[in-house]
Amino acid sequence: MSERHLARGDTAVITGAGSGFGLELARLCAQRGMNIVAADVQADALARAETELRALGAPVLPFKLDVAKAAEVEAMGAATVQRFGVPHLVFNNAGVGAGGLIWEHTLRDWEWVIGVNVMGVAHGVRVFTPLMLEAAEKDSTYEGHIINTASMAGLVNPPNMGVYNVSKHAVVALSETLYQDLSLVSDQVHAHVLCPFFVATGIHDSARNRPQELSNPNAKPTRSQLIAQAMTQKAVGSGKVSAAMVAQYVLDALRDERFYIYSHPKALASVQTRLEDVMQQRNPSDPLKDAPEMGRQLREALRAK
Ligand SMILES: NC(=O)c1ccc[n+]([C@@H]2O[C@H](COP(=O)([O-])OP(=O)(O)OC[C@H]3O[C@@H](n4cnc5c(N)ncnc54)[C@H](O)[C@@H]3O)[C@@H](O)[C@H]2O)c1
Repeated sequence: MSERHLARGDTAVITGAGSGFGLELARLCAQRGMNIVAADVQADALARAETELRALGAPVLPFKLDVAKAAEVEAMGAATVQRFGVPHLVFNNAGVGAGGLIWEHTLRDWEWVIGVNVMGVAHGVRVFTPLMLEAAEKDSTYEGHIINTASMAGLVNPPNMGVYNVSKHAVVALSETLYQDLSLVSDQVHAHVLCPFFVATGIHDSARNRPQELSNPNAKPTRSQLIAQAMTQKAVGSGKVSAAMVAQYVLDALRDERFYIYSHPKALASVQTRLEDVMQQRNPSDPLKDAPEMGRQLREALRAK
């Protein structure tokens, strides 16, 4: 267990700080007396978060950016160092969801979701890891944590969640590799991956922040996309674990130096089945086998004439 972790005056960089997990972790960090770099693409949500975090007494640097854009994440890195120095916690968390049958995603769907969910994390890792390693080399008491938000959809492949599954598997791969690579060079900078199941946040309404240049102006959503939207909304809304609880699980995992962070450990049974499929060369099992009603509804809705 780490004694040093996250003291008053340490700095947290949080992307997606305007809502959901990002906002909840920002609140917890502010309560600990940390400096917060609150980054988000949605200006009004960011402004609300800034006001609230300041009211908690935290020094805040609000930073409006699109994490998919390399130069904007680089600028956030420079602004962070200038204002607070090298951060101790980097939460690469901003993400968006889009569902539907995988062949029905448009090129822009792929570009949007991969851009935010995968490249956003890659940019955060690329910009902040060298700074953190340098800080560790200079100061033997420095400790840094990089937490990337993936999903249970990074460990199993539920149907009709197309590009989202692909993006989150990439985040798990990126994070596991980061963990291995960091362990080659440092004992002071640590990687973690957050894999939540369904939790009530704004994720079902991700389209609110979709940039104009990546929207599908003439394409009506397909049936599978409408079904995915409705099912995600329902699943997210019915979750019993709150975003605030997940933010606390993140801090607990940093303290305990745990890499994998789950919101619903019971859902890991489907991961075990998938890995057994891989090991035993079985064809992929149904990831919805523990929610047969959901699978039946999905099949019926998609096949309805
Ligand atoms: N809520 C769930 O059930 C769930 C489950 C698994 C994984 N996740 C992941 O959790 C992460 C956080 O999402 P959330 O559930 O808190 O949803 P949310 O919509 O409440 O929060 C996401 C935040 O990211 C911001 N954002 C979106 N695009 C951005 C961009 N291009 N650049 C910067 N900021 C951007 C949004 O404005 C928003 O404030 C995402 O990566 C999501 O995929 C969520």
